[in-house]
Amino acid sequence: MTAEVLSTHTPELFQKAVRHAAELLRAGEVVALPTETVYGLAANALEENAIAKIFKIKGRPANNPIIVHVASNEMAKSCVKNFPPVAEKLARSFWPGPLTVILPRAEKIPEIVAAGGQTVGIRWPSHPFIQAVILECDFPLAAPSANLSNSISPTNAEHVSRSLGGKIPLIVDGGQSQVGIESTVLDLTVSPPSILRPGMIHAESLVAVIGEVGSEKSKMGSEKSLRSPGLLKKHYAPKAKLVVMNWKDENELRDHFAHRVSDLAKCHVIAHTRIPSGFDAANVSVIPHDAEAFARAIYAELHRCDEAGAELIVVEAPPDLPEWSGIADRLRRASS
Ligand code: TXA
Ligand code: MG
Repeated sequence: MTAEVLSTHTPELFQKAVRHAAELLRAGEVVALPTETVYGLAANALEENAIAKIFKIKGRPANNPIIVHVASNEMAKSCVKNFPPVAEKLARSFWPGPLTVILPRAEKIPEIVAAGGQTVGIRWPSHPFIQAVILECDFPLAAPSANLSNSISPTNAEHVSRSLGGKIPLIVDGGQSQVGIESTVLDLTVSPPSILRPGMIHAESLVAVIGEVGSEKSKMGSEKSLRSPGLLKKHYAPKAKLVVMNWKDENELRDHFAHRVSDLAKCHVIAHTRIPSGFDAANVSVIPHDAEAFARAIYAELHRCDEAGAELIVVEAPPDLPEWSGIADRLRRASS
């Protein structure tokens, strides 16, 4: 199988792609669709056999639950046992957008989506394409990131094509993902609500809307964190070894490389404030020093380093600020 890749940059192409994607999804197929965070590998969330295909295609462990994507509050409510006031508040402030809430699942959500558990993660994405497909299908879509299990999420159609192009019938090209890292996952089944996976909607924004918020971080590695296997320490990793660090000057950076690799040409640097000049320009990426711009670009840079055959990627450490917490989390996982 070779995936057909459909563009969406004119209204006609957009509509044609919506119809084709919906047709395949109704037939129980799995397709890759753009979302504002990262590309998703979507299937009918109400159909067990379709979801089983997602697990197989990704090589995803059966104990890792999948997020269900909706296109209205009403659809969100139909997927859960009850939608508490705190969820209403969050939906008003952050949906559609990069926030997933965990709630007790409704009977109609198959067990396989929830990896056998009693809860389900729900998100209303803001990307117009996936919204249009959900409305056209009139059923919610289960969608993990469209990559092989444990590798970096795709932020453009090309990334999807490289890893899953031979395994699915359709990839819809909706451009570069605007957010660039995966959604914030917030568990609403505990009190106070607890951040299972930080993202660009950070703790302080959540606190501003709902008051108290806890974090699973302190429990990392304990049994509790298996509630969300995406929290396992090693995840979202490039093929190359990744190191997150600060360097005083270029000499320090060079010393660091000398200890780790024999061939300087296989070292890549991703910087946002300390831009090294004495390296092959092809091996130095500069991302703007702005959390949103950094998040949008970082996965594409990691994909690019892997493609270039990097052995070592050195990423300049992100600042210790709330708006960088999602990025810091992903870099931590990528480097462990
Ligand atoms: O931005 C995103 O969330 C993207 C796009 C496609 O929407 N999706 C995504 O899905 O990142 P995935 O499967 O790659 O990551 C979902 C994370 C995993 O860490 C999973 O363990 C956790 O969310 N998760 C999903 N359902 C859960 C549940 N019921 N309880 C606890 N954790 C859950
Ligand atoms: Mg993923």
